[in-house]
Amino acid sequence: MDKIFVTRSSIPSLEEYVEEIRPVFESHWLTNAGKKHEELIEKLKKYMEVPHLQLVVNGHMALEIAFEMFGLKSGEVITTPFTFVSTTNAIVRSGLKPVFCDIREDDYTMDASKIEALITPETVAIMPVHVYGNICDVEAIEAIAKKHGLKVIYDASHTFGEKKDGVGVAAFGDASTFSFHATKVFNTIEGGAIACRSQEEEDRIKILRDFGIVTEEITTDIGGNAKMNEFAAAMGLCNIRHVDEWIVQRKDAYEYYQEKLSGIKGIKLHHVQDGVQSNYAYFPIIVNENEYGETRDQLFERLLKADICARKYFYPMVTELDSYKKDYDAAETPIAQKMSHRVMTLPMYAGLSHEDIDRIAAVIRK
Ligand SMILES: Cc1ncc(COP(=O)(O)O)c(C=O)c1O
Repeated sequence: MDKIFVTRSSIPSLEEYVEEIRPVFESHWLTNAGKKHEELIEKLKKYMEVPHLQLVVNGHMALEIAFEMFGLKSGEVITTPFTFVSTTNAIVRSGLKPVFCDIREDDYTMDASKIEALITPETVAIMPVHVYGNICDVEAIEAIAKKHGLKVIYDASHTFGEKKDGVGVAAFGDASTFSFHATKVFNTIEGGAIACRSQEEEDRIKILRDFGIVTEEITTDIGGNAKMNEFAAAMGLCNIRHVDEWIVQRKDAYEYYQEKLSGIKGIKLHHVQDGVQSNYAYFPIIVNENEYGETRDQLFERLLKADICARKYFYPMVTELDSYKKDYDAAETPIAQKMSHRVMTLPMYAGLSHEDIDRIAAVIRK
């Protein structure tokens, strides 16, 4: 039997991609805001229903550039430990100090009721994560940020194309960052974007992703290089044509998982939040060992033996990783810690077959 991987990149046909890159070969213009790059920006603004957005080389640099764009170079940033390590690394690499807020047990997003207790005179921003495609309590977070004069930058890497009560997710906060990594719902192989709120901010991103260069003779910043190349942008132009059909396929997998896995004692399934138009990016489950009779790790190993690759995502959580644990006490965010020890994401991608989900469900049902 074939191995079932946790994810599989969604790609166009080779012919479609070749047609898309043909003009790139003809023009010899391979990077630096080429035609494909500019076209993709316009397509994404339309798709994501946001007037201001710029592309960057990956989702991680989107986070770092968002801090730079706001001139945030020192101070504390309230964030979540229940995320991919990139979120926290971006804070630290930007000269800022992460302060960890616990999460909500039902959707794993930052618990807004715990934010204010963490605010100090050093706090400059809040960086929540729309984890697994679950959208944060954006109204409560905005109210707190306004009251205390803080910037809100959402790590929206998991939420490409989602809407909450009809509003596109890119519109939330002072900025929202996206990852277009190969494993995401929409990919440019490697890539990312920052949705911002003004033309001035877009212009700042263009300078910051290009060494701080304004013109050949003028630089305003000590910038790095975070430009997206034409081959990545061309992949994005192909993929944006197909992403809606891929989301429908993911939805089908989500619904079949619900059918096959509901009612198992000790296994809590992922549910799309009320009012959210989901992209079905991930299918996390929570294993309660006392009720299920096996730990998350035991189930993970049994799946692996059956050639099914799940992922302990996010485990270890950030404050339990070697690079952070000496400075932080994971027990200070007990819900995140508990979830991190119980969570596992099951295989999820466009085209995951019912037969494969049957195989996965059979192992979970023992
Ligand atoms: C929550 C989160 N933040 C940041 C990133 C970093 O994005 P990238 O891999 O595109 O640099 C990712 C994805 O990898 C992510 O899942």
